[in-house]
Amino acid sequence: MPKVRLHVEGEIIEQEVRDHANLVVLAGIRQFPKLKYGCGMGKCTKCACRVLEGAEKLDPPNWKEQKMLGEKVEEGIRLCCQLTIKDDIVISQENINAPIPKVAKSVNAQ
Ligand code: FES
Repeated sequence: MPKVRLHVEGEIIEQEVRDHANLVVLAGIRQFPKLKYGCGMGKCTKCACRVLEGAEKLDPPNWKEQKMLGEKVEEGIRLCCQLTIKDDIVISQENINAPIPKVAKSVNAQ
């Protein structure tokens, strides 16, 4: 089983997860507490993390990550909700300055 080490809020949490796990899904059912997340759908960037080790074992960033993170993807920032964990990985949610997602402007029909 892959081992995940998460740096968050001054703590380092290390935990084994099942193969092909999604950390946000696990967080949602309280099996990976402390992980910061929001929508779970690649839209809010609240789950953004920096991959410290094991980036080469992840699938390449998908279109949602590319759209929401822009050039941050090149700096090793990923969206946890879009990751499939297949091997050991070390990630950090400390000092992540992910971009604020664009919010559609409301149209004032006057
Ligand atoms: S939880 Fe919203 S983008 Fe990942």
